[in-house]
Amino acid sequence: MSLLRPTLISFSRNPTLEQVVVHAPVVRTMSHRFVAGERLEQAIAAVLELNDQGMLGTLDYLGENVFDEPAARAAADEYVLALTALQAAGARCNVSVKLTQLGLDIGDEVCFANVRRVVEHAWRNDNFVRIDMESSDYTARTLAIYRRLRREYNNVGVVIQASLRRSETDVRALIEEGIGHFRLCKGAYDEPEEIAYQEREQVTRKLNDLVRICMAPDARAHHTYAAVASHDEDVINFARAYAYRQELPKDSYEFQMLYGIRRELQAKLVKQGYKVRIYVPYGTHWYPYFMRRLAERPANLVFFLRALTGD
Ligand code: FDA
Repeated sequence: MSLLRPTLISFSRNPTLEQVVVHAPVVRTMSHRFVAGERLEQAIAAVLELNDQGMLGTLDYLGENVFDEPAARAAADEYVLALTALQAAGARCNVSVKLTQLGLDIGDEVCFANVRRVVEHAWRNDNFVRIDMESSDYTARTLAIYRRLRREYNNVGVVIQASLRRSETDVRALIEEGIGHFRLCKGAYDEPEEIAYQEREQVTRKLNDLVRICMAPDARAHHTYAAVASHDEDVINFARAYAYRQELPKDSYEFQMLYGIRRELQAKLVKQGYKVRIYVPYGTHWYPYFMRRLAERPANLVFFLRALTGD
C-alpha cells in the first residue's frame, strides 16, 4: 500500500485520466461526498446547513495551476462574488484560496495582485482569507506572499504542513514576527524524503509538536492563532489535552475538517463546545482535490474502483 498514495497523487496531475474520470457519471456522483456542488449557491446552501449544526465554514472555489492571466483573474472574481454572497446570506464562513489558482505559476506579481484583491474585499466585508499550502515547490513563495499581505492586512492566515522538514522553523519565525495565524495540517502532497518526513507516525508527532508550539504561552503572547486541521483523533485529543492544561478558552483555537469526512466526529466536537470549521469545496474543477482525498484513505479507493468498474 505504500506506493498507493504517491501513485494516486501523480494521477491527480494527469489530464488524460482527468478526462476519463470526470466524465464517468458514477464518479461524479461519488465526488458529491467531498464536494458541495459545482455552483456557488449549492456551496452556500451547504455552509448554511453546517452553520445550523453549530459549525463554521471555509469556502474553497476548486482550481489550481492556472496558467493564463484572465483565468487567474476570473478565479479572484469568483472569490469576490463568493464573499459578497456569503455576507448577503448571513453565513458564518470565510474563504480558502490556492495561490496557483490565482496565478502563482504565471508570476508572483500577477498572483499577488489577485490575492490582494480577494483579501481587500474580505477585509471590507469583515471576513477572512486562508491561504492553502500546495506542494513544496510553492512553499517559500507562498510564505513570501503571505508576509507581504500581512504588512497591509490582518485578515489573512496561512497553512503549514507538518510533513515538511522546514515547517517548525517557518512556524517559529512567523510567530516571532507576530503573524502566526495558522491552519496546521499533515500535508496532502507527495514529497521527497529530503524535504518531508515519510512515516505516518512521524508526521503525526510533528503535527502535535506544531500544535504545542502554537498553543504555548510565548506563542500566545505573540497573538498566535492555531486551527488544528485533522481527522486524526490522536491529533485532536493531543490538542484538546494541551489546550486544557494551558487553560485556553475553547474559542481561542479551532478544529477544522473537510466536508464529508468524519461527520460524526465533527458533530461530537461541536457538542463538546469546541469551535469547528468545515472546509467546503465547490466548482467544476474537482478532480485533483478528489484524487487527493482518495489517496488519504485506501478504503475510498476500493469504493471508487468498484464504482468505476460497475462492480
Ligand atoms: P489521517 O490521514 O491519518 O486520517 C485520520 C483518519 O481520518 C483516517 O483514519 C480516516 O478515518 C479519516 N480520513 C482522513 N482522510 C480521509 C479521507 N480522505 N476520506 C475518508 N476518511 C478520511 N493539506 C495540504 O497539503 N494543504 C492544505 O492547505 C490543506 N488544507 C486542509 C484543510 C483542512 C480543513 C483539512 C482538514 C485538511 C487540509 N489538508 C491540507 C489535508 C491534510 O494535509 C491531510 O492530507 C488530511 O487532512 C488527512 O490527514 P489527517 O490529519 O486527517 O489524518
